[in-house]
Amino acid sequence: MKIFLDTANIDAIKEVDAMGILDGVTTNPTIISREKRPFRELVEKICEILHPRPVNVEIISENPKEMVAEAKEYLKISDNLVMKVAMGKIGLEGVKRLTDAGITTNMTLVFSASQAILASKAGARYVSPFVGRLDDISSVGMELVGQIVDIFYNYDMKTEVIVASIRHPLHFVEAALMGADIATLPPTAFEKLYKHPLTEIGIERFKEDYKKIPKS
Ligand code: G3P
Repeated sequence: MKIFLDTANIDAIKEVDAMGILDGVTTNPTIISREKRPFRELVEKICEILHPRPVNVEIISENPKEMVAEAKEYLKISDNLVMKVAMGKIGLEGVKRLTDAGITTNMTLVFSASQAILASKAGARYVSPFVGRLDDISSVGMELVGQIVDIFYNYDMKTEVIVASIRHPLHFVEAALMGADIATLPPTAFEKLYKHPLTEIGIERFKEDYKKIPKS
């Protein structure tokens, strides 16, 4: 399973990239706004670090024709940008037009399997089911991921499933068990993948015991 970071924070991206396990980045307007930096400068920097791995930015236009123009502007920043398009009637037409123009898309804000099927048929390279937000309203987000993975497998649909809105390691592990293509995690959830209290205790014990070893 590929690992993306769901952040626009340069330090967090560099930190995970240094581990050699970073396959891409996803952002959205909320994430970008947190960094309090000009959009272009920030995205340019992220693309530079990640290139040629994908960096996802959200399309804001609410008109399919304008989406293509907006995407072409973004692609002047870097050719590894992927366009996130919000699910819906306009978004599906946008994905179709962007795909026809040779632009890579990620259909975002996906909350049902029917939405995922349509996104794939419209040409989306990626679909992003938001599991945490479904859990928040008492639906089981990971059940949706299971459905989408099964459907895409049944029909040999090439669209990759990005498990998004991940909140904790169980989402991540379940995504891997289900065969999802990608998990995108905010840095806070990513940290929880490698931290373990028994590892910390073990490290401390070894450090203490090392001091007890006669040095000569
Ligand atoms: O990638 C989608 C993600 O940014 C949404 O996450 O935590 O705002 O539900 P969240």
